[in-house]
Amino acid sequence: MTATGEHGAAVEPEYDEAAIRFLGVLWGEGYLSPGGPAEVDRVLAGVDIRGRTVLDFGCGAGGITLHIAKTHRPAEIVGYDVEQPVIERARAATAAEGLSSVVRFVSSPPGRLPFEDGVFDVVFSKDAMIHVPDKEALFAELFRVLKPGGVLAASDWLIGHDGEPSADIKDYIAAEGLHFGMASSRRYLAAMAQAGFVDGVAESRNAWYRDVARGELERLKGPLRAQAVAAVGEAYVDKNIRTWTAMQKVLDSGEHCPAHLRGSKPAAGVRP
Ligand SMILES: C[S@@+](CC[C@H](N)C(=O)[O-])C[C@H]1O[C@@H](n2cnc3c(N)ncnc32)[C@H](O)[C@@H]1O
Repeated sequence: MTATGEHGAAVEPEYDEAAIRFLGVLWGEGYLSPGGPAEVDRVLAGVDIRGRTVLDFGCGAGGITLHIAKTHRPAEIVGYDVEQPVIERARAATAAEGLSSVVRFVSSPPGRLPFEDGVFDVVFSKDAMIHVPDKEALFAELFRVLKPGGVLAASDWLIGHDGEPSADIKDYIAAEGLHFGMASSRRYLAAMAQAGFVDGVAESRNAWYRDVARGELERLKGPLRAQAVAAVGEAYVDKNIRTWTAMQKVLDSGEHCPAHLRGSKPAAGVRP
């Protein structure tokens, strides 16, 4: 299955085999976002996962889903994604690690999530909401599938303001070549509140990723280059060096603003 676009037309996956291989070299096997397990644990700090039911929204190739399963010990974690190559990778990795009794993956076209109301204790997401332009509809869906009293703990790539995006960030997004629907923390928090979430918080991770990305670019140009070229070829690596260079500019300006997000669905009988 390929994902379908806004009007139902089939679209090619953006996270194809080459992207999965390249990002695996840079960020770790099965990871399609930066920071490794430590950053995932930071997103989840203080969230009660053990024995709970968790949704990993936009799970990608499953590296993070498996990390959560192994380290945080949920009763069940469901990885959800709209693209097929990442889901296939995630399923294969889960079978290889013998974790199929705890971890499963579901894919469907973007839009309404293929889950009943109120089935998850925790909704986790790492750097996937950026691909959903309609933040109001997105948070309404995540709220719907959470149990009363459930928690949303996520990371995403936000834009630092509500105005017209600068030429620099437009250049960066064009260099990525991915469909990004970036929005400000004000818009995220308003969309969360509109959906019914309480205690919404957005914490900037710009300062952290600004430094980490600089290191990624240096490694890509130096010690990691040969491994990356072996995985995806020289042209692919050079294109990404240009992308990372464009990204560093907007990280340094603060316009590209990765952030952690938290919110809760009120417990049954509790009025927000
Ligand atoms: C940057 S990757 C992050 C993947 C994973 N969370 C990680 O950090 O390794 C973004 C993921 O969002 C997925 N995605 C794109 N549109 C989506 C949508 N409408 N609903 C859910 N996931 C989506 C992509 O297929 C991709 O796997």
